[in-house]
Amino acid sequence: KRREGKKLYWQIMETARAYFESQLWGEAGAAARHYLTEREIDEETAKNFGLGYAPQGWQNLLDHLQSKGISGKIAERAGLALSRNKGSGHYDRFRHRVVFPVVDIWDHTLAFGGRTIAANDDAPKYINSPETKFYTKGEQLYGLHAAKQGIQKAGYALLVEGNFDVICLHAKGFDTAVAPMGTALTSEQARLLQRYCDQVVIAFDGDSAGEEATVRCLQAFSEAKLEALVIRFDELEDPDTFVRRHGAEALSQKIEQAQPLVAWALDRVLAPAEGDNVDRKLSALEEAGDVLRHVGNQLAWEHYAQEVSRRLNIAPKLLKDYIRRPDQLRSRARQAVIEAHRPLELDSAEY
Ligand code: UTP
Ligand code: MN
Ligand code: MN
Ligand code: MN
Ligand code: MN
Repeated sequence: KRREGKKLYWQIMETARAYFESQLWGEAGAAARHYLTEREIDEETAKNFGLGYAPQGWQNLLDHLQSKGISGKIAERAGLALSRNKGSGHYDRFRHRVVFPVVDIWDHTLAFGGRTIAANDDAPKYINSPETKFYTKGEQLYGLHAAKQGIQKAGYALLVEGNFDVICLHAKGFDTAVAPMGTALTSEQARLLQRYCDQVVIAFDGDSAGEEATVRCLQAFSEAKLEALVIRFDELEDPDTFVRRHGAEALSQKIEQAQPLVAWALDRVLAPAEGDNVDRKLSALEEAGDVLRHVGNQLAWEHYAQEVSRRLNIAPKLLKDYIRRPDQLRSRARQAVIEAHRPLELDSAEY
């Protein structure tokens, strides 16, 4: 029964996808095609990703689905339509947007993302399909179907934030780009990548949201035993704008100089605290502990722990005890930081 339901779901989504595609490449799609051209997305790339256009109006897709025997109620259950507040009936979820099919690794369409092409910003920039019985957001990576061969060949994946980052990078020859679509990377997504490579280069947006999302990748990558590297951009840039402004060569160089995620995450908490007051050092110590907890390899752990101890000027032995048993040792660590220039050597047997 579930199998049949799934098949029907795929059929509905494929019908919608074909409709959106026909709209993009037909008369109604002129403004959307212009929008893609402005963003330097060529026709081949757009077709490779199955990009489409959801036209203006309230029930274009609904009418089309109806003509294929798919009711408003079914369209609603598939996340393509919403039910009207007043009266009965439904209206299209995606209107006047470029739409991106979200496909699984076998190219089954599971969901859509839609970006407004309106010049004013009254409408939300992105709208996504809701999760349904057959679509769980955190289990899919946008672009993986198109990128999986490239990833296997290169031995690594480029992890970016957004749909347009993925598509633009592919258009510029970076066929390893995938995106978690606005969520923090989940363990399932990391495991999915692990099937194709052992290494991931995180290339999130240059803003602080992108920085924080990069830190939040630590857990998923260490669980999946994926080696994670990081590249960062200027505050206002993302991979899409970077590659268009500075060129593919500049991005390749950045990728070559990518830094290990753990080293980057540690530097991010240590750099502002070096030579600072006790409270700042202590909070840096706690944050460093959060990073080190995700380092599984004992040698790497020792290496990074030594760096923390050197940069915060805390005796290595105390630091290790502290990170392993933060609650018991918090007051002792505080004491040690206060007396930073004659670090305490503590015997853990004391506790
Ligand atoms: P960004 O805000 O960085 O958007 O969100 P972007 O991809 O750079 O947008 P452009 O370049 O202006 O088109 C990153 C991703 O997060 C998801 C989308 O998948 C987006 O690509 N997102 C963002 C949403 O789902 N909803 C939002 O309101 C915003
Ligand atoms: Mn962003
Ligand atoms: Mn720049
Ligand atoms: Mn962005
Ligand atoms: Mn962008």
